Amino acid sequence: MLTAILAVSCSKKNDEVMLNLIPYPAEVHQQSGQLELNTNKVSIASDDAFIIELLNKQLSAEHGVELHAANEAIIHFKLVQDASIPSEGYRLKVDNDVLIEATEKSGLLYGAQTLRQLLSVNGDIVTIPKVEITDYPRFAWRGMHFDVSRHFFSVKEVKQFLDYMAMNKLNTFHWHLVDDQGWRLEIKKYPKLTEIGAWRENVGFTANQEKGLNKTNTEPYGGYYTQTDVREIVAYASERNITIVPEIELPGHSAAALVAYPEYYCNNAGELEIWEQAGVSAGVYCAGKESTFQFLEDVLTETMDLFPGEFIHIGGDETPKDTWLACPDCRQRMKEEGAHDEHELQSYFVHRIEKFLNKHNRRLIGWDEILDGGLAQSAAVMSWRGVAGGIKAAEAGHDVVMTPMFPYYFNHTQNHLSSSPGHPGISTLRDVYTFPSIPTDISADKRHHVIGVQANMWSEYMPKFKHIEYNLFPRVFAIAEVAWSPEIKEWKDFYSRVNKTIPSLEKLGIKPGDISYHVRINVEPDYENKSASLEFVSERPNTIFYTKDGSEPNKQSAVYNGAFVLNEDAHIKACQFKEDGTTTFVSEKEIIFHKAFGRPYELKYAHAPQYDGGGKFGLTNGFLGVEVGVEEKPIDLTIDMGELTEISHINSRFKNAPMSWVFGPKKVRYEVSEDGTTYTQVALFEPGVTKSDVNEIVQYPAEFTPVKVRYVRIIAENVGLCPDWHPAAGGKAWLFSDEVIVK
Ligand code: ACM
Ligand code: ZN
Repeated sequence: MLTAILAVSCSKKNDEVMLNLIPYPAEVHQQSGQLELNTNKVSIASDDAFIIELLNKQLSAEHGVELHAANEAIIHFKLVQDASIPSEGYRLKVDNDVLIEATEKSGLLYGAQTLRQLLSVNGDIVTIPKVEITDYPRFAWRGMHFDVSRHFFSVKEVKQFLDYMAMNKLNTFHWHLVDDQGWRLEIKKYPKLTEIGAWRENVGFTANQEKGLNKTNTEPYGGYYTQTDVREIVAYASERNITIVPEIELPGHSAAALVAYPEYYCNNAGELEIWEQAGVSAGVYCAGKESTFQFLEDVLTETMDLFPGEFIHIGGDETPKDTWLACPDCRQRMKEEGAHDEHELQSYFVHRIEKFLNKHNRRLIGWDEILDGGLAQSAAVMSWRGVAGGIKAAEAGHDVVMTPMFPYYFNHTQNHLSSSPGHPGISTLRDVYTFPSIPTDISADKRHHVIGVQANMWSEYMPKFKHIEYNLFPRVFAIAEVAWSPEIKEWKDFYSRVNKTIPSLEKLGIKPGDISYHVRINVEPDYENKSASLEFVSERPNTIFYTKDGSEPNKQSAVYNGAFVLNEDAHIKACQFKEDGTTTFVSEKEIIFHKAFGRPYELKYAHAPQYDGGGKFGLTNGFLGVEVGVEEKPIDLTIDMGELTEISHINSRFKNAPMSWVFGPKKVRYEVSEDGTTYTQVALFEPGVTKSDVNEIVQYPAEFTPVKVRYVRIIAENVGLCPDWHPAAGGKAWLFSDEVIVK
């Protein structure tokens, strides 16, 4: 990163311009003037030689200069004994020379990163504003995750990733080494894990070909890290104060391991293939066989030998459990262990692995599904399906790392450009920066259990490292500041610092993600008054123009200047115009104040926690586009209209996107009732399932003779399992609906 030259001409207090630093330090006291030095004369000394080596490497890449090591130094990094400097913290003082003090190497390292951002180089002149900084991190776990299973990345690229983390004062690298699509870690005792499990027949991820991200889909694809590679990477990370948390997924997401060693799969469960698409395969370790646990303990033993950190991540997410229920060994295990269902069997599995790790003085961390069935106190939880798992875990006394998929999954694109690699679903720079990382729903005395935050980089739709970089930057600045700085600053200040920093990325050859011209339309329904408050949020300061009748906005349209209330049906369209007068994206939202607006309803089958449609009125909140999602089961809801209400129209809306495992319903039925006991059918649709790769909304509007009813029931049947023609045939299908409209 390069810092623009800062003209700090006089000492300012409250109104002072923020220095161009990310993450912003805990305390900054700007002084008047700046230190100007000739590049040939700047000398540097450090109690830790690596600091000079790293800083010079960075300065050379960014500015083409290096500083000379000398005992009579102008820039001095000193290790001191000073209890007032917190762990990983440092003090930095720029006056007629530069002094950086810390009690540990990590503090010097971070002081060097701040100095790197403070100094600017112009020809032979290095300029550093005079300042006193006292700095230390907010969270002990400042994480970035990297999935090298879905696509493989070289040792050099992994080191590059670690460099980007160190630049941003991130200290925990969650390395997702294992998944259905490839096993990437050499295990000496089980060589087939990498001889077989690291290679799939095709590059796979056909959606990438359509986007032009992969050249071909017909070559064997894969790769793995030898133990020598891993030791080199662990040492490289350690020099940069980064602890690696390796992830060995179990019991699910394990097709690659089980293709190599099918003996640890349930007998008669069929053939597995190394998965080539997104989604979850059926590959799950047999929980009944003792040999499975021996295998996993052997794998974990070699893993612990390679990775000295406290935590081992064991996955635990999205376990397909059907094979267990059909397996005599698994059934026997359930009987012996008193496990009443497959969820309790998963709990047994995780507990057993946890005991093994604890015996070796390591702590287990896993995705929030590991909470199901109870956990030992020392286990930590990564909250990914929203924040609910994190709240539950913290309340139960577990340490938690917050990594909710919105907005902390960096595989989601950060803008609406169709060329952006990554999963659909937007998490903008602003979303990441402004998200409340410690949910206020956690009791005050339990909040200390949130030990950190982490952004996750799943690589399904990022085959090349340049795609990773595009999705990492500039959002990594936001997660870094959330993780490090004691307080979140004004968005416009952060945005300004990011903009000033972007040119330096380009100097380093990084193409960062484009900051969006997208306008987000936030709707806050007021159910009592049958109205809604609308707020438009954008990342850029450009004017927002909008219409309410569905017409395209132009520069003569209404100008947004603050939240407003709406009490009539509207089709809102809003956009910003780029400097060249064009627009990249027009956002829209339809709001309908229909008769079931804000009415409570009951769902017979629960929605997935991560697809709640925006809250408890997700299907009756009056606006379209935010979906409730149910896996395998029907969406079957009964709306209570509160009193006898005359109605003559029902419409329900669903997503149909089979390639994302989301299918429209195969049957839809509407029923009404006066008393909640006797129901009369008023409409029936039987669309069935047709083979297609569309991504569309399907609707089932029905008009009928007016009736006075209190209850309205909608039963939409899920296709259940992906059909035979589907790439994930037999996998669980999703049913998504955004609204039920009653008139
Ligand atoms: C996850 O995204 N399945 C943890
Ligand atoms: Zn089994």
